[in-house]
Amino acid sequence: MNGREIIRRCGLLAQQTEEPGHITRTYLSPPMHEVHRLVRSWMTDAGLTTHVDAVGNLRGVLGDGPRLMIASHLDTVPHAGAFDGILGVMIAIALAEQRPPCAIEVAAFAEEEGVRFGVPFIGSRALVGDPVMDDGVLAAISHFGLDPARIPEAILDPAVKGYLEFHIEQGPVLETLGMPVGVVEAIVGISRWELRFEGKANHAGTTPMNMRRDALACAAEWVGLVEHVAQTTEGLVATVGKIEARPGAGNVIPGVVICSLDVRHALDEVRERALNVLLDGAEHIARGRELSVAGESRLEQPAVALEFEVVEEAVQSAGFPVHRMVSGAGHDAMILARKVPAAMLFVRSPGGISHHPDESVLAEDVDAALAVGAQVLRAWGPE
Ligand code: GLV
Ligand code: MN
Ligand code: MN
Repeated sequence: MNGREIIRRCGLLAQQTEEPGHITRTYLSPPMHEVHRLVRSWMTDAGLTTHVDAVGNLRGVLGDGPRLMIASHLDTVPHAGAFDGILGVMIAIALAEQRPPCAIEVAAFAEEEGVRFGVPFIGSRALVGDPVMDDGVLAAISHFGLDPARIPEAILDPAVKGYLEFHIEQGPVLETLGMPVGVVEAIVGISRWELRFEGKANHAGTTPMNMRRDALACAAEWVGLVEHVAQTTEGLVATVGKIEARPGAGNVIPGVVICSLDVRHALDEVRERALNVLLDGAEHIARGRELSVAGESRLEQPAVALEFEVVEEAVQSAGFPVHRMVSGAGHDAMILARKVPAAMLFVRSPGGISHHPDESVLAEDVDAALAVGAQVLRAWGPE
């Protein structure tokens, strides 16, 4: 399987969606059944022995003895592109097809984005003995036809000695440098929270402005603070990507607003400090308007250093220039790094576009990633 065929298969999987006309495929949503069927058949054709674990990860093993896990994810954000996650799974299968000199396990994680339950990495966390056990997740697992009682069996096999993930860069750096691939040396730390602002719903036409406790106006003031803190803190990014106003009618003052918050930085202490400023700021703004606010953490993921030497040497051996970079996006590699040495290779993202339908990748860059992958596997194989 070459770059062109990999891109064709990513396109086929993109047709499996919850929303016609868009690519939206959240954790264990109905289209995931057909995705499993397709990917499983490709894994089997590549010689892998497959099974679906109890959180919905599709896993396939080839060969005996110490193995390298090569993986990425199958779920998407709403209105996604066709390559985030999926490309890495297709590259892993293509490498299996080449009969590598060492045993490998390919994992296609069921969940990385955190869209359905607000908690990311549901797939990979089960492998490191830290499964997400909230009631909604367990119900989704049963509804999909899997058995939550078997989640402990999803744990990483002790034969897995390392982890490798291929992923689109999702940013403009490699394109700007004119390079097909990049070596990831670290992944930023990420905090994800949900905040609930509570005021009082009332009639939009009859309630004087000075008698309102508008939860959305309050949240809006806080969103301004989120942007300001991120803009004035070197290297910090902070995003409110989801807002739900209740009861949600044009003629009702919003009584409750639920907001997401995503804060990232390469240095954990900077992220933690900024998060505290934002949580205290929410309290302060809410109190000033006679509202209340409550926050709940969904993810506290420290920054992670990756193994980069083996990938760097592979890039060199494959004849490509080396560029080391820090990932601003979260990846399953940061979860697997808790248990085994983990490495990542980025593939150039044309236009730096991702989490958007225009996301793309060049066939020749995927071929470059395959060549680097083959070199990594050679280095891993018997001397
Ligand atoms: C995953 O795409 C993330 O960085 O949130
Ligand atoms: Mn993503
Ligand atoms: Mn991804």
